[in-house]
Amino acid sequence: MEPALNYNYKVVKQFAVATVIWGIVGMLVGVIIAAQLAWPALNLDIPWLTYGRLRPLHTNAVIFAFGICGLFATSYYVVQRTCQVRLFSDKLAAFTFWGWQAVIVLAVVTLPMGYTRGKEYAELEWPITILIALVWIAYAVVFFGTLITRKVKHIYVANWFFGAYILAVTILHVVQGASMPASLTKSYSAYTGVQDAMIQWWYGHNAVGFILTAGYLGMVYYFIPKQAERPVYSYRLSIVHFWALIFTYMWAGPHHLHYTALPDWTQSVGMVFSLVLLAPSWGGMINGMMTLSGAWHKLRTDPILKFMIVSLSFYGIATFEGPMMSIKTINALSHYTDWTVAHVHGGALGWVGFITMGSIYYLIPRLVGEQKMYSVKLIDLHFWVATIGVVLYIAAMWIAGVMQGLMWRAVNPDGTLTYTFVEGVKATYPYYAVRVLGGFMYFSGMCVMGYNTWMTLRHRATVTAPIPALAAAH
Ligand code: HEM
Ligand code: HEM
Repeated sequence: MEPALNYNYKVVKQFAVATVIWGIVGMLVGVIIAAQLAWPALNLDIPWLTYGRLRPLHTNAVIFAFGICGLFATSYYVVQRTCQVRLFSDKLAAFTFWGWQAVIVLAVVTLPMGYTRGKEYAELEWPITILIALVWIAYAVVFFGTLITRKVKHIYVANWFFGAYILAVTILHVVQGASMPASLTKSYSAYTGVQDAMIQWWYGHNAVGFILTAGYLGMVYYFIPKQAERPVYSYRLSIVHFWALIFTYMWAGPHHLHYTALPDWTQSVGMVFSLVLLAPSWGGMINGMMTLSGAWHKLRTDPILKFMIVSLSFYGIATFEGPMMSIKTINALSHYTDWTVAHVHGGALGWVGFITMGSIYYLIPRLVGEQKMYSVKLIDLHFWVATIGVVLYIAAMWIAGVMQGLMWRAVNPDGTLTYTFVEGVKATYPYYAVRVLGGFMYFSGMCVMGYNTWMTLRHRATVTAPIPALAAAH
């Protein structure tokens, strides 16, 4: 068979554009539910718009639509460029794109209708779960097939991270998806009671570890060195923290189930592994930061690099905060409060959002043969609006969370509770309003990115980038 001469940029571009569009949609739903928490009447008494139905729509749209489309786009680009071959199969790659869009559209329809498995981050009913499995297997075949047919001997570290994320999600999805269908729209979990909870958070935490972390570290290892025009600071550190990270994440899930019916020792194992997780997480953060040594001046003029470096800072914050929150006595204060939501969005907006935006800004012009986006000023504007938005969001939720935790546990000398629950809710209102503002700013930044992307792609055809004839064999 004749070797393919060009990279497949078509599917990369499709996923990159989808990332931007779904980012706008998912964040809009985030702003709506944030507003509903401040002003509950905003559900307009329409069942489809109630908080309980829109919340899973938000999490599915931002993680599975925005987040994973971004990972598809970048992993397909990186695996081709670093292996110096075209994607293993154009047809399967196209199937992953259309199949994944079908999953997203089905989620957008079924979640507001109230169809759900009732498992956080795995809400979609069994027929959609099967479709996800099919798309994911195709993804694995395309990605690993490309790796196997590579012309370069070495497997670049970004591919290790992308590969781990694809493999781990396959296992997580199959185990968590096991259920007994009762009808087309209703199924029951294969697990019961405490085992069900354990599987749920083994899955949930590894979704954080392998989707929201490992996948994005893949972006870090390719796009930061490229944008900074510097080699990775330490290749050895990248391999050490890779193995440490993927081994440790698998055991940390029970920190979501402190003080529950889960056996006590399991909770302690989860806590200890979460504390250990600080080290490999910071290994990655430090490696990314140090890649900039000698190029810090570029931050003055390059907003894409700003996105990337600030994202690493948020990664550092979230992965310091997480281990602290997993300590049982601290979790006794933070659990059930908005502190958890602050932690989530420090990771989601600051880390996942920013590294995705930075990488997509790098990618989009190159897919149409340009060096830059339509407007670098607008990237800068996006950066500042989004940064202020994240800070407002998480600062408001940190304060609200600690306040809630302290109010709930306050007792009078006679042993009665100092505050009723509703007093805690009332005290939280102003912080919910600040979150709406912060969230709206973050969402506006995403709309600016949408405009900039549209203007960059308008009237420009996808380039056919030739694969170098002679690969650097070693
Ligand atoms: C405009 C930006 C956003 C706004 C205004 C927003 C708002 C919200 C709100 C109000 C909730 C519900 C909190 C609760 O139940 O108390 C939530 C949950 C969540 N959001 Fe967002 N969000 C935004 C962006 C994102 C992004 C980009 C991601 C991921 C990449 C994300 C991931 C999540 C997750 C995982 C949860 C569930 C948290 C939990 O169960 O503790 N959000 N969001
Ligand atoms: C060293 C790394 C990390 C550790 C040890 C950790 C630990 C924790 C802990 C203890 C909780 C609270 C559990 C509870 O009380 O219910 C939590 C919640 C959460 N964390 Fe992390 N975290 C880490 C990094 C991250 C990162 C980078 C993200 C990226 C977005 C993230 C996303 C989340 C989400 C989405 C939840 C909420 C889950 C839910 O209740 O729905 N975490 N994490």
